Amino acid sequence: MFARIIDIPKIEDPRGNLSFIEEFRQIPFKIERTYWIYDVPGGQVRGGHAFRKQEEFIVALSGSLDVLVDDGHEKQLFSLNRSYYGLFLPAGLWRQMQNFSTNALAVVLSSTLYDGSDYIRDYDEYLSFLGSGAKG
Ligand code: TYD
Repeated sequence: MFARIIDIPKIEDPRGNLSFIEEFRQIPFKIERTYWIYDVPGGQVRGGHAFRKQEEFIVALSGSLDVLVDDGHEKQLFSLNRSYYGLFLPAGLWRQMQNFSTNALAVVLSSTLYDGSDYIRDYDEYLSFLGSGAKG
């Protein structure tokens, strides 16, 4: 399990705080795509799947959410609720986003353009993907 929280710089200022992310600096990949998840109705779950190649970094810009990460052996729950840290997810992990607060806004920085064929949406297929040694 190599998912990990990464702290982002926080420039505190009486006029309002500022944080930033640069590719290959705060996060270890080149940013090819940015998307965000918002207006999530209470109790909804998003993103129950794994990626073969895509790496990503998730920040709760507003509100909070939990990310449940599973590497096929163990599960780990990460709570995101500040805009000055995020969760780095290497490729090959199963993850789902859940427990969104009202008005939660989660931004996801991705290392790839959108590619539907990079998704593994079936958990048994994910386990065989891991077993095939294709991880990462
Ligand atoms: P998806 O990643 O499958 O969301 P979830 O895993 O939460 O169900 O994305 C939902 C839909 O949005 C899917 O039809 C593909 C589309 N989509 C894009 O076109 N581009 C993107 O960058 C993303 C993330 C999704």
